[in-house]
Amino acid sequence: MENELQKLKQEAEEALHAISEIAHLEEFRVRFLGRKGLFSTTMRQLGQVAKEDRPRLGQLANSIKKGIEELFHDKKDAVESGCDTTDRDVDLSLPGRALSFGKLHPITQVMEEICAVFEGMGFAVAEGPDVETDHYNFEALNIPKHHPARDMHDTFYVSESILLRTHTSPMQARIMENQEPPLRYIAPGKVYRCDSDITHTPMFHQVEGFLVDRDVSFADLKGVLTSFTRRMFEKDLPLRFRPSFFPFTEPSAEVDIACVICGGTGCRVCKRTGWLEILGSGLIDPEVLKMVGYDPDEYSGFAFGLGVERIAMLKYGIDDIRLYYENDLRFLNQF
Ligand code: DAH
Repeated sequence: MENELQKLKQEAEEALHAISEIAHLEEFRVRFLGRKGLFSTTMRQLGQVAKEDRPRLGQLANSIKKGIEELFHDKKDAVESGCDTTDRDVDLSLPGRALSFGKLHPITQVMEEICAVFEGMGFAVAEGPDVETDHYNFEALNIPKHHPARDMHDTFYVSESILLRTHTSPMQARIMENQEPPLRYIAPGKVYRCDSDITHTPMFHQVEGFLVDRDVSFADLKGVLTSFTRRMFEKDLPLRFRPSFFPFTEPSAEVDIACVICGGTGCRVCKRTGWLEILGSGLIDPEVLKMVGYDPDEYSGFAFGLGVERIAMLKYGIDDIRLYYENDLRFLNQF
């Protein structure tokens, strides 16, 4: 009897082990554990063993049956949930599948890099609101109502006096009116203009920078911007300051770098000019300083504003700005 029980145990374990499909579970249950199954049949024979052996063998039979029932339920759970680790087709020694991690968007990466370069020159970083007032976006920057410069900004208005900022320059006025010079700040962020083609998106990123102190000159501006482009493009690229106009700077200049593709000899990217425009800049207009309560005879300053998408396009040789915002992983994974 004892031998029979041990044999039955072994048989049941082997049968259970071989099961990998739900359909076979029920077959097993009926064959071994059912009312007319092998365990019941064997246990019915207990009546025939010697009286003194009965309790011991009865206990043994019960515990073996209980053990098999437990194994059966474990197997059932595993097979039904599809995670049967007893399945011989699963190779537990295989390495796991790696999780794919997200990354920072290339624009965020370049923006952080730009900020890091200026922070290295002692500039502090400040962020301001995307929804801005007409006052800070225009008036405080010497762009009154009906000024022709407003035309260039293709503004999204929320109401007559509230708008989505068209540039990060409003941060100049916001910071200056709350602090006294010397000031050295950069203000990165999103800006909005109603414009869309291969070089324009309705939302893009700028970094504004400015410095106010006693005796600040155009030479300081040139020095800071030259250091910046050298660090950013990892090359000693010549800079060109081209006379320009912005209502909030006087004098104003647009800054070009020698073409990163051809080095200045002329190619398709620089439209055969050898130069690429990278930012607007100038000495802060005395009118702007006066509006925040500074005395322009005591203080002077410079300011600049650069487009992050543009810098990133030049740095990575990208020719369509819309690629940044299509969320195509084949593009994004390259950064
Ligand atoms: N705010 C200007 C724009 O978005 C860029 C700019 C030009 C910023 C000259 C400046 C500056 O600070 O001095 O077009």
